[in-house]
Amino acid sequence: MENDLKLYKGLSFEEYNQRYSSDVHKRQNECLKQELLDHLDFDKKIIDLGCGTGLAYFMLKDRIKEYIGVDICSDYISTLSSMNLEKASFVCMDGLEYVKNNEIKHSNVLFLWSIEYIGTEAIDYIDDTNTIVIVSYNKPYLPGSGSIYEGKEKEFKKLHNPKKVQRDLKSKGLTLRKFMNEDYYFIATRKT
Ligand SMILES: C[S@@+](CC[C@H](N)C(=O)[O-])C[C@H]1O[C@@H](n2cnc3c(N)ncnc32)[C@H](O)[C@@H]1O
Repeated sequence: MENDLKLYKGLSFEEYNQRYSSDVHKRQNECLKQELLDHLDFDKKIIDLGCGTGLAYFMLKDRIKEYIGVDICSDYISTLSSMNLEKASFVCMDGLEYVKNNEIKHSNVLFLWSIEYIGTEAIDYIDDTNTIVIVSYNKPYLPGSGSIYEGKEKEFKKLHNPKKVQRDLKSKGLTLRKFMNEDYYFIATRKT
């Protein structure tokens, strides 16, 4: 079957960036940037799973040694690839398939609001030579607001059980706490 996963929630690259550009998102991004500066080892490459429109790249570009952005949505990956961004490469692929098919060592691996789609099984393929940072939702989405793309909605809903995600992450050695001191999000980290 042809891969028709072009857009996340039907949003074009520009629409996606527009949707997440409010003052609340700007404040959120400032906090995220600080967390990433605190946790990541900038001598190592960054693998951003579910990179979307490259939020982490643009946030950290002055510090990046090498960046790989992976996303299942082909429009975002082709737009990012066409920008010829310094020290960056992009792969259109399912995040779980990516970690299964690439030996990931001595890297920083990010899941920014993407673990609920990719699934916690991905952590099993990221050994302890890597630093992991995950940010995700603490609470289930309201019905209807969590659809990602036609045909995959059911699968997505099955995956989106934040309590199970959190239990899995703890059992895989990650440390969890609130993100931005709010109940709505959590951040999970595992250092080398
Ligand atoms: C909420 S967005 C977050 C994007 C970006 N990390 C950010 O913080 O702006 C979730 C992203 O995960 C991607 N995604 C969903 N399922 C995926 C999968 N199985 N493998 C890789 N990426 C996936 C979507 O296409 C979307 O870009």
